[in-house]
Amino acid sequence: MRNFLITGGAGFIGSNYVTFLLEHYPDCRVVVYDKLTYAGNLNNLLAHKNDTRYAFVKGDICDSAAVRETLVAHQIDTIVNFAAETHVDRSLSDAGSFVNTDVYGTFVLLEAARELKLERYHQISTDEVYGEILTGSSNEEYPIQTRSPYSASKAGADLMVLAYFTSFGLPVTITRGSNNIGPYQYPEKVVPLFITNAIDDKPLPIYGDGLQMRDYQYVGDHCEGIDLVLRQGELGQVYNLGTGSETRNIDMANLILDLLGKPKTLLQYITDRPGHDRRYALDVRKINALGWHSRHDFAAALEATVRWYRENEWWWREIKSGAYYQAYYHTHYSGREVAAPNPAH
Ligand code: NAD
Ligand code: TYD
Repeated sequence: MRNFLITGGAGFIGSNYVTFLLEHYPDCRVVVYDKLTYAGNLNNLLAHKNDTRYAFVKGDICDSAAVRETLVAHQIDTIVNFAAETHVDRSLSDAGSFVNTDVYGTFVLLEAARELKLERYHQISTDEVYGEILTGSSNEEYPIQTRSPYSASKAGADLMVLAYFTSFGLPVTITRGSNNIGPYQYPEKVVPLFITNAIDDKPLPIYGDGLQMRDYQYVGDHCEGIDLVLRQGELGQVYNLGTGSETRNIDMANLILDLLGKPKTLLQYITDRPGHDRRYALDVRKINALGWHSRHDFAAALEATVRWYRENEWWWREIKSGAYYQAYYHTHYSGREVAAPNPAH
């Protein structure tokens, strides 16, 4: 594994993983292949612009000719697929683009990897494929019980990856990560949205009762886990990656306000997301046994994330002031305000 194709490498986690690779493996070569949708951003990769080990190719993972051409031109031996439509709320209004990129795009990559006999294919997946976990936690054998078009598309991709292992012996691995936070996350996802709104004294829109739970992990820890699975994971296997502990959305929002010294009056309850998964919780014993534990607990991860957004306003102000973002925000959030469900919050 020396010549990497990082699909979706201009997005949040992908760009962090590109940095991880270039910092840890002096002999590697990294080609980012990315369509540059609204979520892709070359500012995430600015630090590598002049690194001779790095190249950028603008392309769609659904375009099989362009994928093959890139694999051959750069003598790629390993694909790590981060490319996806990733926001649950958008999947409720535009499911087709999720099926296209997340399912069909993954198939295109697998087919190219098979034909060109690549050394390795790694799929970046999500804890959302297990559906909502009301009690206990999901290990890697837990049934796939998806509930949103996003998670259903990601599950379709996972099943196709495993089918290519079983049917064709393609050397694959899958990691299913919990919610990531950290540098370069597009401010539609809850944590960067709340931090940047709070900095600007704007309301933090809390869906429903705010008691939904997520396992928020630091993106750098996630990248270390992905890399460990790539190097030491067993082929054909799935590995969960998360901290193994969950936080309620309302507690996360309150902590952000505390870290920024902002008033609780910024909390604004709004109507819930349809089909909102109440809780995700991962059993991470399999990856722990391979030697990985997340380094940051939730408080440390959130503190580092808040610091990054405070120190890098140039990055998110350009996004949030753009017409595309403003239109999305207006369409998605306006007119949804409701009273707080319980004053005790
Ligand atoms: P993101 O939305 O920040 O970035 C996605 C990237 O993929 C963007 O750069 C975009 O331009 C690119 N892309 C989209 N469609 C493409 C296409 N058809 N062809 C080529 N490139 C395309 O996403 P992220 O949060 O960095 O997530 C990366 C991966 O990790 C996704 O597969 C996601 O499902 C998974 N994941 C994310 C989280 C999370 O908390 N963000 C948690 C677990 C798993
Ligand atoms: P999100 O970042 O969209 O990730 P997920 O894919 O896990 O849904 O949302 C994380 C949690 O935050 C989820 O329970 C929904 C909630 N949320 C809000 O309360 N308000 C918001 O504006 C957003 C975007 C999410």
